[in-house]
Amino acid sequence: MSASGKMVFSGVQPTGSLHLGNYLGALREWVRMQNEFNCIYCVVDLHAITQPHDPEELRAATREIVAAFLACGLDPRRSILFSQSRVRSHAQLAWILNCVARIGWLNRMTQFKDKAGKNREGASVGLYAYPVLQAADILAYRATHVPVGADQKQHIELARDIAQKFNQDYGAPDFFPLPEPRIRGDTARVMSLRDGRSKMSKSDPSDMSRINLDDGPDTIARKVRRARTDSDPLPGDEPGLEGRPEAANLAGLLASLTGRSLGEVLQNYEGRNFSELKAELAEAAVSVVVPIGKEIRQISSDPATVDGILAEGAERASEIADTVVREAEELVGFLALDRH
Ligand code: AQP
Repeated sequence: MSASGKMVFSGVQPTGSLHLGNYLGALREWVRMQNEFNCIYCVVDLHAITQPHDPEELRAATREIVAAFLACGLDPRRSILFSQSRVRSHAQLAWILNCVARIGWLNRMTQFKDKAGKNREGASVGLYAYPVLQAADILAYRATHVPVGADQKQHIELARDIAQKFNQDYGAPDFFPLPEPRIRGDTARVMSLRDGRSKMSKSDPSDMSRINLDDGPDTIARKVRRARTDSDPLPGDEPGLEGRPEAANLAGLLASLTGRSLGEVLQNYEGRNFSELKAELAEAAVSVVVPIGKEIRQISSDPATVDGILAEGAERASEIADTVVREAEELVGFLALDRH
């Protein structure tokens, strides 16, 4: 582990297969961060049950996400990889933080509004309190940096507010550090291939809206070919993307998959048709995604190894989180009944 003293925490919900948005917006950065920081990466299964789910699918998805972690380059010798439910301190700290967070703060969370939709009264209490559990995930490790996509910025800001209020309420100004979101500007928000105004998401009912990390080359090429566009030729610079979300998304994806700037991509495709850009985009997506997919299948064929990594990760994570949560409990005033 690095000696920087900085701690990175982030997580993914096991709600389906990972997609290119998860990879470019989060995982690719997580892999890079292993070189610089102490990193803890979690499959957040407690979060996954905030919405209706099938228990068998949850178990399978949890293993599949770990396989994807490894396939993308996360290394269990350098980072702690584990599933949230196996470290009890997350739920214990979440309860304490539920009593610190204010209802008014949660009422402003846009993800709850999006996910609950019109059926707010029928949504689970867990879905409403989701960002408080997320704050507990981060604060249980005194994490200082949280690499996420832009959709999670509001939740990390809430975690800062909760940390600050806890520190103030219990007279311990430095108890929880205030975590900082690390959001990559270029790929913070990968959009749906069917609608450039909504984000690429695991739970979008249309599989054509996303490129899954386990999609084969033909599927990827078909999804890119069928991706929605507008009818104008491509512009030569970024201001020309104004009001053209699909063009912005496809050009942005190509830039980020090939390591070029958006400006370079647009210069190259100025005045040309989408079909030309799509041909290069399909090729770039296949070259990045297909090797990851192969690796996911290979790792998934050995569930015992995946479970072993999760068990060891949970032990290492518990060592850190249990200590922090015990100290928090003491500050709150819970009686410690250690036997000597
Ligand atoms: N489209 C995206 N662009 C950039 N980053 C993204 N992330 C998710 N979608 C995009 C980032 O991936 C990390 C893991 O996210 P998650 O799966 O735990 O939760 P999510 O944000 O709710 O992702 P989905 O795909 O939309 O899942 P469902 O449909 O289950 O809710 C996070 O850092 C996220 O920012």
